[in-house]
Amino acid sequence: VCLIYLSVYKMAKLQGFDFWRKTLKEACFVVAPMVDQSELAWRLLSRRHGAHLCYTPMLHAQVFLRDANYRRENLYNEVCEEDRPLITQFCANDPDVFIQAALLAQNYCDAIDLNLGCPQMIAKRGHYGAFLQDEWELLQKMVRLANEKLSVPITCKIRVFEDIEKTVSYAQMLEKAGCQLLTVHGRTKDQKGAMTGIASWDHVREAVNIPVFANGNIQHLTDVERCIKETGVQGVMSAEGNLHNPALFEGRSPPVWEMADEYIEVVRQHPPCNLSYVRAHLFKLWHHTLQIHHDLREELAKVKTLESLANVSKQLRLRCQEEIARGNYMDKESSLPFPHWICQPYVRPPPKDVSVKGKVQDKEVKTTGCQKRVLEDTTLSAQILSKNKQKKRSRNPNKNFSPDQKPKYIKCEQCGNPKGNKCVFNLCRGCCKKKAYKEVANCLSHGLKFKTKAEAKKAQESKRDAEIEMEKNCSPPQSLQHQTTLLQEYKA
Ligand SMILES: Cc1cc2nc3c(=O)[nH]c(=O)nc-3n(C[C@H](O)[C@H](O)[C@H](O)COP(=O)(O)O)c2cc1C
Ligand SMILES: *[C@@H]1O[C@H](CO)[C@@H](O)[C@H](O)[C@H]1NC(C)=O
Ligand SMILES: *[C@@H]1O[C@H](CO)[C@@H](O)[C@H](O)[C@H]1NC(C)=O
Repeated sequence: VCLIYLSVYKMAKLQGFDFWRKTLKEACFVVAPMVDQSELAWRLLSRRHGAHLCYTPMLHAQVFLRDANYRRENLYNEVCEEDRPLITQFCANDPDVFIQAALLAQNYCDAIDLNLGCPQMIAKRGHYGAFLQDEWELLQKMVRLANEKLSVPITCKIRVFEDIEKTVSYAQMLEKAGCQLLTVHGRTKDQKGAMTGIASWDHVREAVNIPVFANGNIQHLTDVERCIKETGVQGVMSAEGNLHNPALFEGRSPPVWEMADEYIEVVRQHPPCNLSYVRAHLFKLWHHTLQIHHDLREELAKVKTLESLANVSKQLRLRCQEEIARGNYMDKESSLPFPHWICQPYVRPPPKDVSVKGKVQDKEVKTTGCQKRVLEDTTLSAQILSKNKQKKRSRNPNKNFSPDQKPKYIKCEQCGNPKGNKCVFNLCRGCCKKKAYKEVANCLSHGLKFKTKAEAKKAQESKRDAEIEMEKNCSPPQSLQHQTTLLQEYKA
């Protein structure tokens, strides 16, 4: 009975909201397709930290079709039970090639996505991604054919036009052609800051009768929640925010080493993983720390094995922990909201800096390094001030050595009371407790274990969920109704 039920279920292709509800399990926290970055290990890490749905990196339909190695390396060898629901993304500009490639991929994923948003491809190949957004007839053909021929739904990831009306017609055209879910990258090239896509998300979502995911500069769980609340989209997709903080969807900003260690462990458990992906992930995770520890940045760029990458990551952790243990960490010069060893958004320098990127960044790096050393020196001198005060003052009469001008302790970022010595949030106990509770995090220095407790509870719940799910799937159809009701009641 179970087998018959499953095969019937598989034949009836779910559409739109049914697809989102049943196959995607109402996914609202989504990890974006990312070339060289949304590989299996990263997806698994992200899923363990709150992501509901992931996309493969964009695959080239033509290469996928002709190259069996490419298929194995990028999809077939990455099959993993934990890694569902999963959407495979292609770029393509030929309906037949696209369908042939998608047919070879459909048994390994829950939907096929067509990339209509990649601007770099214009320059490279001339006829993919965002370039296609002006070729509506061709797009209609590709989506219609995919909707007819594939056993899984077809979805699209689009960029907005300057003109919202045009974006809306575009979305409706794709829906009419058979697209079952739309991701809208709502940021035009000139827009910066969170939530800039809000108008287009809102309009598109209202204009179509399929689920919509919003994408573009979502960096905090609060952005996610606000976006869903204000625009009514079904989900929110993150790329850069996720790369810099894979626990973004948990609403946590964990220490970088926690994520780096866990990621490396996942990579070990799921070989082989292309080392250039691992290296790139570690560069992004450790971004802020590497601005300070230049020697390890070079090391990270140079080493050639997973174990040595892991070793560099470990050295970075030790440096951070030494810094924390010394307790004289002060980063008043830094504009970062958290210390450099905390996962946090990477805010890009404004465009005018980008045009002279190398120079400006180097200069910035040097200044930061310098200022940090000055800071450490002054902290040190504060301790031996009484002995050397006169001598120093005579050498540097303009400098203020008055001890009461210097903080004797590091202040809690929120209330100004002394912060916990090793507090991961840089807060005093009271503020830490509030934050850790809100974000369901641990702070071992303050003896707070909200995360550990929540995880234990979640593990227990998901075990129960899994039991119910198993019963549901393998019961005769007449009892399904009952089981589903049970599940709904349980979830409510
Ligand atoms: C490293 C990287 C790789 C990306 N690769 C893809 C890709 O393969 N396919 C795609 O549709 N978009 C790709 N994008 C774009 C993202 O999916 C996303 O649309 C964009 O970064 C905006 O989201 P964000 O502000 O959350 O980063 C990539 C982005 C990054 C940062
Ligand atoms: C690793 O990925 C890079 C970038 O995509 C690619 O050029 C290289 O061939 C890959 N290496 C292996 C061993 O697959
Ligand atoms: C680990 O890295 C450190 C610092 O770069 C280096 O001195 C040490 O030899 C490395 N150890 C191993 C086992 O690779």
